Amino acid sequence: MAATVIDGTQVAADVVETVKRETAKLVKDTGVVPGIAVVIVGEDPASQVYVRSKGKRAEECGFKSVTHRLDASTAEADLLALIAELNADPSIHGILVQLPLPKQIDEGKVIQEIAPEKDVDGFHFINVGKLGTGELETAYVPCTPAGSMVLIRRTLGKSDLSGLNAVVVGRSNIVGKPMANLLLAANATVTIAHSRTRDLPALARTADILVAAVGRPEMIKADWIKPGACVIDVGINRIDAPELGEGKTRLVGDVAYGECAAVAGSITPVPRGVGPMTIAMLMANTLTGACRAAGVEPPAY
Ligand code: GUN
Repeated sequence: MAATVIDGTQVAADVVETVKRETAKLVKDTGVVPGIAVVIVGEDPASQVYVRSKGKRAEECGFKSVTHRLDASTAEADLLALIAELNADPSIHGILVQLPLPKQIDEGKVIQEIAPEKDVDGFHFINVGKLGTGELETAYVPCTPAGSMVLIRRTLGKSDLSGLNAVVVGRSNIVGKPMANLLLAANATVTIAHSRTRDLPALARTADILVAAVGRPEMIKADWIKPGACVIDVGINRIDAPELGEGKTRLVGDVAYGECAAVAGSITPVPRGVGPMTIAMLMANTLTGACRAAGVEPPAY
């Protein structure tokens, strides 16, 4: 039987609807308006596109949204001074500094200067530590793994993954490691695989839930998939597509979609799978920050 295609666009729209509704309720009940500040340094075209989408979606949600565009030559001290200002601003609940940063700025240092209670990316050591120790009530979880987890919960129809084997391929700080911690917190039996893992296909075949986050186009093949598995493809890779015409490109994931969809029980496509969930969860995290500041229980997704 062909796999269920997990519609990330639809789930993301549903998350954003909940954020909109709950924002309206928060404003009405407490007068607190969620506020997000996005900081971009330099002119990287992909980053410019992301930042514009984040601002647009925040306004749609009814947030206060401010974007700080700094020159590519900005000194680290000036960026840190802006972060200090945003940390002290009670109308801002979420701060996101778009990465990558120009080379004169130490990214690690900048991330650790963001107040943990406003770190909606979930990159600060405090939030990493809270996720690692299961303190999910007060943590921020990085948006892409948080969104992947929403897709898994909704697809499998349960939050408790007891008895299920999960394999995460990729060990990045932004996706692989937090994804593994989230799956563990949901009681899955979790293995993190990476480029040094022996017999990756055999290990992947043990997975009831397989998460691919390696950034290698179509690396995961049909014979890596356990029949009926839930396959979450975090990869977004642009490859040449001469079949579409000279000089054309197309997006593919880390999973060879067509052949794997014939074996999996459910699978995310690329695009329109995990991708749209990232901004949706950024909105969710910002509302969570505002709810915490107002002493109100944040919504679940
Ligand atoms: N650049 C690419 N992805 C991200 C992200 O999730 N957060 C930030 N801050 N920058 C990024």
